[in-house]
Amino acid sequence: MRFIGNKENLLEKIYQIFQQKNIFGNSFFDFFAGTSNVGQFFKKKGFQVFSSDLLYFSFVLQKAYIENNEVPTFETLLSKIEVKSNSLFENPLIKVINYLNGLPLQEGFITKNYTPKNTQHLEVPRMYFSDENGKIIDTIRIQIENWKIENLISENEYFILLACLIETVPFYANISGVYAAFQKIWDARAIKKMILRPIEIIKNQKENKVFNQNSVELISEIQADILYLDPPYNQRQYAPNYHLLETIAKYDNPIIKGVSGMRDYTNQKSQFCNAETGLNELHKIAKNANYKYLILSYNSEGIMPKTKIEQSLSSFGDLELVEFDYLRFKSNSNGESKNKKFIKEQLYILKK
Ligand SMILES: C[S@@+](CC[C@H](N)C(=O)[O-])C[C@H]1O[C@@H](n2cnc3c(N)ncnc32)[C@H](O)[C@@H]1O
Repeated sequence: MRFIGNKENLLEKIYQIFQQKNIFGNSFFDFFAGTSNVGQFFKKKGFQVFSSDLLYFSFVLQKAYIENNEVPTFETLLSKIEVKSNSLFENPLIKVINYLNGLPLQEGFITKNYTPKNTQHLEVPRMYFSDENGKIIDTIRIQIENWKIENLISENEYFILLACLIETVPFYANISGVYAAFQKIWDARAIKKMILRPIEIIKNQKENKVFNQNSVELISEIQADILYLDPPYNQRQYAPNYHLLETIAKYDNPIIKGVSGMRDYTNQKSQFCNAETGLNELHKIAKNANYKYLILSYNSEGIMPKTKIEQSLSSFGDLELVEFDYLRFKSNSNGESKNKKFIKEQLYILKK
């Protein structure tokens, strides 16, 4: 998934550095999970993974990829619904996805508020999704919720299906990167009919646990060998930039405002979007959390100055900074205009 600060392409490099620096352990806490890619990577490496994020859609992904350790059977559901199976060997998730892809369409919150036909009364009708894709999103989201209410799916199955939806939607959103604004001309991918896609199920037989809260509040509860911190590195808050994924995940009919139909995010503001409060939080984490290694991912453009980070972290143990070049696509506040730029990716490694 396209997500600001997504570490997917850096994970092998980060892991290599861990090995070079003899950073080993059994448990890994992904403190700022976002897409959950980091947790997925370390889950596959056999770690017991903990993770958390302020965003609910991130929690959905974490529940499905990190906490879940079962291939879903959809036993109860599949005994109740009629699926047209293409193959005898089709797995249950694919059967349910095919069923969801074939439902008669209905309108709901997304169609009413984020598609052009239904928002014609607005000064700028919203063009986040085509009229058809708005209905597809609503139809699938409503059906998943109904199955949960009717007890036809387990908690794991519920989050797996929601994660499939959250992973699919960005392929059809008429945006350039983030959801703070929609494009005024249809992108070719946004007018294709949306087809729900399955997610990968990752099993590692460990008791992985995920949270949807300010991670700093978890420091007294969690003990992990490796505490991995990947906080926001500039003033841009995540919640407004991903408000639509949040609304699709929660499907809570929020009050929305403005041209982009933004939901309130007062309770999801990160202290790391300000240098001073970010440094205070970092100090609090390094001081009070239970870990052997604290790894902070940051970069040369981050708002917390290098000297201040070093000053804070080095008071709790041996600190080393590893830097490497990384080609980043820099975008403006609407996520538009991509300029290639090399920045220095940083890993602060603190050994307690
Ligand atoms: C740089 S992104 C993490 C990207 C992630 N490593 C990935 O690969 O997708 C920062 C994340 O931190 C979350 N966040 C910011 N402050 C937080 C806090 N105090 N507690 C929990 N999550 C927070 C944001 O919602 C965002 O998802």
